[in-house]
Amino acid sequence: MPSTPPKSPRKSANSQGTVIVGIDFGTTFSGVAFTWSNQVDKIEIITSWDADTSDNTDECKAPTAITYGPGNKVTWGYSIEPESEQLKWVKLLLLNDEDIPEEVRTSDKIKKALEYLQKHKKTAEEAVTTFLRHLWEHSIDCITRSISKGMVNYAQFHIVITLPAIWPSYAREKMRLAAEQAGMLDKRMGVETQLTFISEPEAAAIATLADMEGRFDVKDGDTFVVADCGGGTVDLISYKLIQAEPMIVKECVKGSGGLCGAVFLDEAFTNVLKSKFGKKWVKMDESNRRDMVRTQWETGIKRNFKMSSKKSYNIRIPMECLLVKERRAIGASASLPTITITPEDVREAFNPVVEKINRLINGQINAVKEKEGVSPKYVILVGGFGRCNYLYDRVNEIFGAEVEVLQAKGDKPWTAICRGAVIHAATQSGIGKLSVQVQTRVARASYGICLSEPWDTRRHDPEDKYLCEIDQKYFARNQMAWLLKEIDEIAAQKPMSLSVERTFDCNGPMKTPDDVEIFETNIFPPPTRWDPEVIKELCSIKWETVIDPHTLPKCKNRIGGAYSELRYRFEMNCSGESVGFAIYRGGKKEGSKSVKVDYNTR
Ligand SMILES: Nc1ncnc2c1ncn2[C@@H]1O[C@H](COP(=O)(O)OP(=O)(O)OP(=O)(O)O)[C@@H](O)[C@H]1O
Ligand SMILES: [Mg+2]
Repeated sequence: MPSTPPKSPRKSANSQGTVIVGIDFGTTFSGVAFTWSNQVDKIEIITSWDADTSDNTDECKAPTAITYGPGNKVTWGYSIEPESEQLKWVKLLLLNDEDIPEEVRTSDKIKKALEYLQKHKKTAEEAVTTFLRHLWEHSIDCITRSISKGMVNYAQFHIVITLPAIWPSYAREKMRLAAEQAGMLDKRMGVETQLTFISEPEAAAIATLADMEGRFDVKDGDTFVVADCGGGTVDLISYKLIQAEPMIVKECVKGSGGLCGAVFLDEAFTNVLKSKFGKKWVKMDESNRRDMVRTQWETGIKRNFKMSSKKSYNIRIPMECLLVKERRAIGASASLPTITITPEDVREAFNPVVEKINRLINGQINAVKEKEGVSPKYVILVGGFGRCNYLYDRVNEIFGAEVEVLQAKGDKPWTAICRGAVIHAATQSGIGKLSVQVQTRVARASYGICLSEPWDTRRHDPEDKYLCEIDQKYFARNQMAWLLKEIDEIAAQKPMSLSVERTFDCNGPMKTPDDVEIFETNIFPPPTRWDPEVIKELCSIKWETVIDPHTLPKCKNRIGGAYSELRYRFEMNCSGESVGFAIYRGGKKEGSKSVKVDYNTR
């Protein structure tokens, strides 16, 4: 994950404690939580959203939506008139086309989002930056009101942004750039702001486990599957409890997830309406359609429908959809005709998405059983969609006999992600009372470098063989050295390292060594040889030190020629969702100025 590893907050001369802000930038809704030094058992959620007409200002998350008005005037969140045309789903557009499944890429909502961006000549990155700027300014406003101007001006800010665990590294890097351009990292009164990332399911799990602290039925060795069911993504993560108080957990199997969040359900329900209205759907005003989906579905059927529901829903057909003779008939009856949505219709919309989620849960339960020899104790549903009654009923129907399914009431599951981000940073900095320590994680990708290895007839492909003129030895080029392999356990503070040697012409000029490119793959086991189809560049590490070959150790080759050798150790650190890289030479770290990491945002 493209970011330097988190450090403990740097104190500055005028630093007055720490403010930790957790930002959950969601596909459909975004939430912000915060706390400050010595208050970490009290996490506040940002509300008081700007809204002229909406009565949702106290909701714990605001819609991830913006509009560009005349003169590029931006409206965002709840201040947008719900029926108006607006940009939504933009988070998914941070993914490259090839990483968006066909059915998502071709969905109406993605098409509309792309059309909206095109119409207003904006890129997805620009729109995300604009949204984040508004979200941040509103958050700073609320934090100031809550803790005082003085605290906000002089405190060290630590921002933690949550990201879907299934996101590729380039998308995470785009988020970092967007946060920077949104002004989140601007110095206030000379105090620097620290930015780190955490995966959404890990944050969700941390908050959920913190909520469970002190429960008598939770004991060491128990395992949990947490399913963060959001608008776009459903992310699953499984933990084993190592110690109950203070809580220490380890990830026990590789997490999983997919693009099967609530927006796909919304799309399926819109399709039900489309087929019920038939030709009348086309005649309906776009704003009436949006209003119908919002009032009938979003705040009605979607939240209240249960497996046992037998109720049918009658929805009025707007006047503009009616034929002349139908309008005349209304004159007599004085009421608009309706279409009927039956419980079967609702189930038809829910089931494909719910079945995908159940398959993911089944995969995690089986993986935990295989690893631990017993079923997980709980499956915990969180995220906005995780509050859904019908989803709970269906998950419970399938797994309830084997595993207890938990779904907290109220806003807790919806705010779990931003609260968890705050607890994570507070735990790392050792401030406050709430603490959930993730001792080890399971790698979701493999990371490594491509190098030449001393030639070995048994292992290498003759196509890769070459003679190095400098040391007169045979090598195999294009070999992969994996520092971290998918499913490996990653201990938070234990770096992975690899020793590398490079030959130099000892009479040659002073020069900087070539860049070190870092690659990642999701193929398991990772290939031993370079394969551009499945191995992607994550970033490149640039040396900025100039090396004088005369100062390097000298060696002699088999024909008596002299050459120099540069030996260094390459190290990779993982913490949360961050991966950091460093180069050590002669036991000394090449300073951060000597090594620059450029992340690949494509
Ligand atoms: N009580 C509820 N029942 C059913 N669905 C709900 C409920 N509350 C919220 N939702 C739905 O949850 C979705 C939003 O969930 P959430 O805020 O966790 O997603 P997100 O963070 O926007 O998306 P992602 O995490 O995938 O980027 C919306 O589709 C919303 O309608
Ligand atoms: Mg979310």
